[in-house]
Amino acid sequence: MMKASKALKAALFAATAALMAASMGASAADGFLADRHAAKGINCKMCHGPDEKNPQTPTIETCTACHAKDALVKKTANVKPTNPHVSPHYGSDLDCSNCHFGHAASENFCDQCHQFKFKVP
Ligand code: HEC
Ligand code: HEC
Ligand code: HEC
Ligand code: HEC
Repeated sequence: MMKASKALKAALFAATAALMAASMGASAADGFLADRHAAKGINCKMCHGPDEKNPQTPTIETCTACHAKDALVKKTANVKPTNPHVSPHYGSDLDCSNCHFGHAASENFCDQCHQFKFKVP
């Protein structure tokens, strides 16, 4: 019984995500962030926590556990016209999800005010 209900919950969790993707007119083939992570062996729980019944929305800490902030800032230091991972306004503390979406096309948060034309993966 335990096993069956766990499987059911896992299926429901997956179905919710599929529904979400479908309602956005997307599919796994579009390769949003979560899909590209899955392709590298990063599963749902690594971003949403172990409790599939109560998936946690990823925070900046979730992401920086794997993508160390300092290393990230260094990695994109030469991106033109400016490093997207550090700014005079937010330092390197701007929540990742302002730009990187898990299951939808990412956005360029800075261009509300600037014209940096970043391509956010
Ligand atoms: C369990 C570890 C892990 C977690 C948690 C994680 N990532 Fe990743 N991420 C990876 C790995 C591994 C890669 C692939 C690295 C490579 O190919 O060099 C990657 C690649 C990326 C890439 C670049 C490649 C691409 O296809 O877009 C971005 C952007 C990214 N992650 C953002 C995030 C964000 C934002 C979060 C939090 C919502 C996050 N990651 C959470 C491990 C993780
Ligand atoms: C202001 C928007 C923005 C925010 C906020 C942001 N990113 Fe990014 N990220 C970008 C852009 C733009 C790129 C692509 C840079 C380039 O052109 O190489 C990128 C690239 C990446 C990459 C791939 C780096 C590489 O060269 O392999 C990773 C990993 C990543 N981001 C993780 C994160 C994580 C983790 C956070 C939160 C701590 C975060 N990002 C916050 C815009 C953002
Ligand atoms: C790289 C990290 C990452 C992975 C892996 C990932 N997600 Fe997400 N997920 C996110 C982010 C970030 C959000 C917040 C909304 C957004 O950015 O699209 C989210 C949102 C969701 C939501 C909406 C509820 C909420 O927490 O906001 C569901 C449901 C969901 N994901 C299911 C899944 C399932 C199922 C899988 C595995 C197939 C998965 N996710 C894999 C990052 C991830
Ligand atoms: C709400 C509007 C707003 C947002 C969002 C915003 N900025 Fe700015 N930013 C400004 C203003 C206003 C200035 C001051 C402009 C000046 O002095 O010419 C500025 C100045 C800067 C500067 C120094 C001056 C320059 O243009 O070289 C950098 C670098 C910068 N911003 C980076 C960023 C980055 C990176 C992001 C996204 C993570 C971002 N900003 C998001 C409004 C914003």
